[in-house]
Parts: sequence; structure tokens; C-alpha cells
Amino acid sequence: MRQANIILQTDDVLKNPKAEVLVLFHFESDSKKNDSYNKIDQKLGNRLSKKAERFGFKGEKNEIIVLHDVEASAGYDAVLLCGVGKRDKFIQNTFYEALVRSLGEISKMKFSSAAVAVLPEACDNPKMAGRLVTEAFYLSQYRFDKYKSAQAKKHDQHLEKLVVYEPQLTKNDLQAFSEGLAYGAIVSEGVMLTRDLVNEPAIYVTPEKLAEKAKQIAVQAKGAVSIKILGKGECERLGMGAYLSVAKGSDLEPQFIVLHYNGDKKKKKMCIIGKSITFDSGGLSLKTSKHMETMKLDMAGGAAVLGVFHVLSKTHPPIGEVYGILPACENMPSGKASRPGDIVSALNKKTIEILNTDAEGRLALADALSYAEKYIKPDYMINLATLTGAIMVALGPDIAGIFGNNDALAEEFFKKAQEEGEEAWIMPMHEGYKPKMKSSVADLKNVTGMGYGGAITAALFLSEFVEKTPWLHIDIAGSSYNEGESTPTRPKGGTGWGVRTVLSWLLSHDKKNL
Ligand code: BES
Ligand code: ZN
Ligand code: ZN
Repeated sequence: MRQANIILQTDDVLKNPKAEVLVLFHFESDSKKNDSYNKIDQKLGNRLSKKAERFGFKGEKNEIIVLHDVEASAGYDAVLLCGVGKRDKFIQNTFYEALVRSLGEISKMKFSSAAVAVLPEACDNPKMAGRLVTEAFYLSQYRFDKYKSAQAKKHDQHLEKLVVYEPQLTKNDLQAFSEGLAYGAIVSEGVMLTRDLVNEPAIYVTPEKLAEKAKQIAVQAKGAVSIKILGKGECERLGMGAYLSVAKGSDLEPQFIVLHYNGDKKKKKMCIIGKSITFDSGGLSLKTSKHMETMKLDMAGGAAVLGVFHVLSKTHPPIGEVYGILPACENMPSGKASRPGDIVSALNKKTIEILNTDAEGRLALADALSYAEKYIKPDYMINLATLTGAIMVALGPDIAGIFGNNDALAEEFFKKAQEEGEEAWIMPMHEGYKPKMKSSVADLKNVTGMGYGGAITAALFLSEFVEKTPWLHIDIAGSSYNEGESTPTRPKGGTGWGVRTVLSWLLSHDKKNL
């Protein structure tokens, strides 16, 4: 993580300012300005409110105006005013997003320090408010630039310091706020680990590298996380013919990685599974060069599981046991690769006719899901997978699709995603498409040939490998990777989608936590 400082101030925003730009917030249609806005505006002879009026600033969500050159009267070089929308629509993410966007804007203006007057409304839960401040700070400053020369990086500007003015909190709340600041720094590390792993080229992030990262996480957990890695031989013995069929064409050995957070055995046992294809060439059903360009992203699900375990390993929350599974391998064409028409047998003994070797994620996940049900027996399981291009046709590039066999669980996860500002939508598991997966020579075929509804049929395929466990499949093919230009919430490349939502979902099973 880049060296950066967060300094907590209990003073007034006007008492010895220690940053270049001050961030203030304003609710839409609030006639009264909040305390900090009021004080600054008075100091500035109403220049800020006048500018707001002139620019038609209403305080709509993420509406931003900046007043420059106020150093002489306010002590800051500039003041940034950011709208947070209507009061009755205010949720935890409103504050987070407003702050991420404001800080993104400030670094674009080449300033290196900012101060923020935290909204009292965000402080109903002071630990959460602290968490969001640090996450907004670190995540808005994320860059993947390790392969750029110093010369190329010269013009990139980052914030090095954030001064946080908390609203008048009681001593206990202040303590909780500070704890939130520290927790948010670890969550940010988790999200950035996920982003980095996705952004790294596939020549670096191999199945073995994922195993190595997982081992590092286990070591840093000081006993709270254990790890088991099944090699090819062990997977063969267990009968994971579906997963192994994907790895066959590659020179790299598959690594079936199982992490275990040793939580309270009296609480719910959870399992999170991440698709971990370190490169998806399509195999013999080779992708076009255009479609292959981004396929290092195909382990974003596994990277998110590692991001979550990074946080568990460093914070040891009082929740139940959590298992993390990464069925890692690479999908390559070669003389040893699976051929269209091959038939494989999965761990649950169902046979699959592989008609398209590019529909490999469902093969690897089939065995991971069966493994979890057979050997882990969790109370809930969730898989994250860059499974289909079709989910982007359905929902566009930003929104993840939630599928599953349990409506209450889907709703719960959807709510958490909304709070965390990770866009998602619940999709239908239309049983009517199931017959399309029937093969004439095996139990199932891995593609339907239907042409439409590909994200749904992929989810239905996975459901064949879940018997009774409440389960969700989250298709993150679009949401985990931004092919367009960076925005403060979605940097170019790996976005880290899922780490914050999964963590918040895991922790919500113990109300003592965030
Ligand atoms: N990894 C891809 C899905 C994907 C596509 C992720 C674009 C991110 C961006 C997956 O393995 C795949 O190739 N799916 C095929 C399925 C088809 C062969 C039924 C697809 O989506 O085209
Ligand atoms: Zn594929
Ligand atoms: Zn894939």
C-alpha cells in the first residue's frame, strides 16, 4: 500500500488547517447549511454559497463544486462542496461514494493533501463511519503502476495525507470511530490485493502464485487460518474430472486451494468459492484475439476470496468458520487439451459432455461446489465467478448478477451489495431452460447452443452441483474488471468487486460487528 497518512482531528475545521483542500457535504434541498459549511462560508464572506447558487448547485448525489484561492481567509487553498442527495435516501454508501469522488477529484487537481468534515449523519454508526473514511481514501488513490517507469509515472498525482474532522463525538464513539479507521485500512488492503492480483499479467499470477499468496495469508493469520492445497494426483483420486479437464492443456499444474478460517464452531459455517482460471484462452474452442486480451481477469473470483481472507487473517472477527476455495488452473490449447465432444465425470459422479472448451469456468466450479458440499458441508456457500460474457449483455459492465437457490439469501446479499456500493441485481433461475442442458450422450452438456440467456443457463448448470446447501452464484464477469476509463469507484482494470460485500455479509451474521 502506498505510504499515506490519516490524521484524526477533534478540532474545528477552521482551527489551524493542515491540508490544501477541505471537503464539505450538503444534502439536497436542505435550506440550512451544516455547521462546517456555515462556518467556512461565513469566513469567506458567503463566497461558497454564492458560487453554489451561481452554478445551480442543489446538493444532488455526487454533484461537486470547488472554490479556489481561499487561502487568505479560510486557510485552505480550496474548498470542495459535494452533494449527498436527499436526506431520506441517505445510506452508508452515499457518504462513501461522495468521499471517494471528492478525493478522486482533488487528486486530479494535483493537490496532495485533503481534509474532510465528516457528516454527523454518517456517524449513527461511528465505527462504520471511520471505516468508510479510510476505504474512500485508500481506494480512491489506487493505481496499478508498478510496471511503469518513473518517467511515465511523473505526472500521476496522489493524495498523501487526509485530515479527518469528526463531528463532536462522545469519548466512546470516538474510540469506535478510530477502530473503524484502522479496520478500514485493512479492508482497503484486501480490496487492493484483489485488484493487484487481477491486474498482474497471467505470466505472473499462475495457479502456483495463487497458492503462494494463499499460504502467505495463512502464515500472517498466526494460527487463525489454515490451508490445504490439493495437487493433480489428489484431485484425480477424488474424481474431479470436470476441473481437471480444464487444466489438461496447460503446462502449469492445477492447484486446488482450500483456506479455512478457524472461527467459532457454534456459529454458521460459510464457504466462499472463487473462479480461478489464471488465463482463459478458450482452450481448443479458442477465443478471438480481441476477446482474449483481458482474460488474465478470469481469476477475479479467486482473487476476491483471497482479499476477504486477507482481512479475516488480520482482524480475527468473532464469526463462525469460513472456508475459501480456489480451484485454480489455466485454460490453454495444446495436444493434451480437452476436445469438444470429450465426456468427463465430475466429483458428484454426473457426466458432462464438453461441447465448448471456453465454457470452462462452470467445469472447474462444478467440482469446487461438489467438494464443498461433500467435504465441508457449510451452512451457506457463495461462489464469485467471471462466468459469462452474457451477464454483461444482460446488465451492462458494472453490475454483477446474483443467482442462487435461496431467495432470502439472495435478498440479504443484494442488500449488503447496495450498502457497500457494489452494484448488483438478482437474476431469475428459470427452470424452463434446464432441458437445454441435457446431452444425448452424457448427463449434461456444458453449453446449450441456445444463443440467448447465457448467464442464466450457466447458473443453472452450476445448480446441478449443489444439492441442498443454500447457495448463491455471483457472476462478476463485468463488475470485476473495468475495460473503460477509471472512475473513482471503478479504477481501470481490476475493481476488487465483492471483497467489501462478502466481508460485510460474513460479518453480519454476528451483530456485534460492522
Ligand atoms: N471467462 C469467460 C467469461 C468472460 C467473458 C469473463 C468476458 C469476462 C469477460 C468464460 O469462461 C467464457 O468464455 N464464457 C463463454 C461461454 C460460452 C462459451 C457459452 C462466453 O461468455 O462467451
Ligand atoms: Zn472461457
Ligand atoms: Zn473463463
